[in-house]
Formats: sequence, structure tokens, C-alpha cells
Amino acid sequence: MIRLGSYPATRLRRNRRHAWSRTLVAEHQLNAEDCIWPVFVQEGQNKTTPIAAMPGVNRLSIDRLVKEAAYAHTLGIPAIAIFPAVGQELKTPDGREAHNTSNLVCRAVKAVKKAVPALGIICDVALDPYTTHGHDGILRDDDVDNDRTVAALCRQAVVQAQAGCDIVAPSDMMDGRIGEIRRALDKAGFHGTGILSYAAKYASAFYGPFREAVGSAGNLGKSGKRTYQMDPANTDEALREVALDVSEGADMVMIKPGMPYLDIIRRVRENFSVPVLAYQVSGEYAMLRAAAQNGWLDFDAAMMESLLAFKRAGASAVFTYAAIHIAEKLRAGKSSRL
Ligand code: PBG
Repeated sequence: MIRLGSYPATRLRRNRRHAWSRTLVAEHQLNAEDCIWPVFVQEGQNKTTPIAAMPGVNRLSIDRLVKEAAYAHTLGIPAIAIFPAVGQELKTPDGREAHNTSNLVCRAVKAVKKAVPALGIICDVALDPYTTHGHDGILRDDDVDNDRTVAALCRQAVVQAQAGCDIVAPSDMMDGRIGEIRRALDKAGFHGTGILSYAAKYASAFYGPFREAVGSAGNLGKSGKRTYQMDPANTDEALREVALDVSEGADMVMIKPGMPYLDIIRRVRENFSVPVLAYQVSGEYAMLRAAAQNGWLDFDAAMMESLLAFKRAGASAVFTYAAIHIAEKLRAGKSSRL
């Protein structure tokens, strides 16, 4: 680092004196265009069901989702990511509902695409919303069977592409799934369907509220998802995961969770010329909401600062449950900087 001057000739506070000069020298900016909105869809008509641990977030029936998606588009949000809350009666040990061509996700994708064609749609590829045990794949001897699961994920991805999804996002952390999914999509003629790989997804305690939202808390067993999701202790391993996924055909990679893993975003960004996305997960959202409800934090300011931190770390875009809320604030002229 070149040393630029020294005190007293140099006083860094000069550039910070005025709102306009702070604006002038700001290195990063948060925009609605940086936010991808994850949404929960449920069966029914005209139905909005709040999620207790995520104040302000609801499960929506498809008709309501279509309206909200149109609104998100008008706010400048580039894409939504759809997650289904699947009825208990449709869950099986092998999660076969995942590749039913008229499942909830496929119907939601079709409806949103038809109503708001310019809005990007991202679908999660993983079996957890569909399995009775809540794991992301098919079990054999109490652990997820990698290759059998990959075959199921390929079918799931093709079904989502058929429904009109723009980007499939495997969040399952099986080995080799990006290459297999790419081949399956190409074979089915979906050369243009993108893959956002959850390349570095950690076995995290911050997914709790999400599992309530999609009803996948299930019966994960004592090792949880640690035999496939990454150990929070590791960072070199994240680079290996990203390298493999990019070589297998990933168009973008995801780091997840977000704020506790900003170091991973930065390292991946510096080592690979591939778009890096980040997921501000349910637990991160819940923490900020809970603190704000207690009067301990200013939600808007803390949320904006967190999202700006993702950009600073090197993320191209961020999945955030606060996307609509933040896009509204930005539109009303609120700045991501204090
Ligand atoms: C599952 C999946 C999870 C999330 C997104 N996809 C949870 C998990 O791995 O158990 C978590 C998102 C969040 O917490 O907001 N494939």
C-alpha cells in the first residue's frame, strides 16, 4: 500500500465533513438492483401466512406471489428466488414431488413468468422441501447418498427449466452435481438456463427460521447437514468448491450464509473471475428484526449497512428477505450510508 501523505498535511476527516463530500468519495453503493428477493410460496388462493421467526416475511399463495413479483419488478429488483412450503402429505423419503412437473414451484414459476416476463426467476435445486426427513437428498444408511441424489436433482432442475425458470440454483452441496445438472439441462435443450451454484454453503445455525418457513426442520439427526454442507472452520475448502463448480459449468457462485462469511466472499472474489452472490439468510434477517423490535437497533439503518457490507466484500448481488423493504426505502431517497 502506497502511503499517501501524513498528518498534519493530510486530514482524512476533510472528505467526511459534508454529506455531499461523503457521497463524492463513497467507494460502494447499495441499489435495488443488487437485491434478489427470496419468496416462500404455498398452496391456496388469496393466502398470506406470516412466518413467526421472520417478521415481515410471509408465505404467499401463487396469486399473491404474482402481485408481489410485479411490484418487486417495478422497484427495480432484478430477480426473485422461489422456495416452496410443501404440504406434509406430499413429502416422501425420496422427495419425488420435486420432479413432479405440476408441483407448487413449477406452477408458481409459470404464473410469475407469464405475468412479469422481465423478472428473473431463480429456483432452488435440493430435495429438502420434499423429504420427510428434511435432508437435501435421498438417504442410505442414515447419510445422504451423493450420486442417487444428483440424479434426482438433475430431474428436478430440468422440470424447473421446463416451467420457465431462468436460473437453477443447486443448494444441496452434493459432489459433482453442477456438471451433471449442466449436462441434463443441455440434453433437454435448455442451453440458456443458467446455474447459480451454492458453491460454498456452510452447515450453519443461521438457517433455523427458513426451515420453519418451508417446514423442513424434519428429523435431521444428530449430525444435521454436516456430512454435505461445509464446516464453518474452513476457507481454503471454499476455494476448492468454487473451482470445481466453475469448471463444471456454474455461471455464478453463491456464498452462504452472508455476514459471518464476508471473508469467504472476498477470497472467492479475488481468486475467481466469476460473479459472486451472497445470501443474507433467515437467521441474519431474524436477528436484525428481533433487535429492532426490542428497540435495540434501527432496522433500516442496520439492514442497509449489512447489505452495503456485502457489496464492499465483493458480492455482485445479495439474496435478502428485506429486498422489497429496502428497495422502497432507497426509492424514497434513504441512503445506504448514514
Ligand atoms: C435448503 C436451503 C436452505 C436455505 C436455502 N436452501 C436451508 C438448509 O440448507 O437447511 C436456507 C436459507 C435461509 O436460511 O434463509 N436447500
